[in-house]
Amino acid sequence: MSEVPVTKNAGGAAPTGDPLVVLDNVNKHFGALHVLQDIDLTIRRGEVVVVIGPSGSGKSTLCRTINRLETIDSGSIGIDGRPLPQEGRELARLRADVGMVFQSFNLFAHKTVLENVVLGQTKVRRTDRTTAEKKARTLLDRVGVGAQAEKYPAQLSGGQQQRVAIARALAMDPKVMLFDEPTSALDPEMINEVLEVMQQLARDGMTMVVVTHEMGFARSAANRVVFMADGRIIEEAEPNQFFSNPRSDRAKDFLSKILHH
Ligand SMILES: Nc1ncnc2c1ncn2[C@@H]1O[C@H](COP(=O)(O)OP(=O)(O)OP(=O)(O)O)[C@@H](O)[C@H]1O
Ligand SMILES: [Mg+2]
Repeated sequence: MSEVPVTKNAGGAAPTGDPLVVLDNVNKHFGALHVLQDIDLTIRRGEVVVVIGPSGSGKSTLCRTINRLETIDSGSIGIDGRPLPQEGRELARLRADVGMVFQSFNLFAHKTVLENVVLGQTKVRRTDRTTAEKKARTLLDRVGVGAQAEKYPAQLSGGQQQRVAIARALAMDPKVMLFDEPTSALDPEMINEVLEVMQQLARDGMTMVVVTHEMGFARSAANRVVFMADGRIIEEAEPNQFFSNPRSDRAKDFLSKILHH
């Protein structure tokens, strides 16, 4: 976990880490659709950035470009001072450095929970089996599913599976964690158990990009809110400022829809 001292959103204090993820004038099209338009975004070490915006605004695509699940047409993306690798082992390492948790849990169905968390460590990080298993059990305990280690994903609740997915990403010692609507497929009673794990991660200094509609999480954990619409970053601000005083009409309109329902 990052050792860089960061002031978490206390009285709006800015984080102190150096730039970790840097998107510079990034553009991407899907055919005629200009899905990412002139995106400039810097995420500092230890920073928690919540990305919000209407459906189809490009939030998922933005996340996916950061670990190169999607390529970009122009501009550049760097992580820890280096451009994203194109292919091969370097790309596998990037995917380990950039942990990703999706809406759907994406665990290997035919492997036990423990095996799900061991696998990437032994294959990509070349960690020996004993060390990998020890680490997996520690992480599963940390996210509150240690007792489920020998079960298969289908035997777990959605909230438990999502916490396993988080443990699996953490097992790779990622530099940054991307969460794309990690709680939106969960039953209401399971949302908080996942958000609490994410809150703890944020407090521990993990660098995080989180696409979510959970505004309580944004208010309490985020250093910054980034608001997207139509493939652009329309505005970004510290959460209290964004929620109490959004500047753009698009953000005001969006907030009135999600906060008054
Ligand atoms: N592989 C693809 N091929 C073609 N179009 C795509 C592809 N993936 C996404 N799109 C389109 O790009 C736009 C942005 O999609 P994206 O999934 O990034 O939006 P989003 O902000 O995550 O939306 P949501 O809130 O619904 O998850 C949408 O219009 C979508 O239909
Ligand atoms: Mg999406």
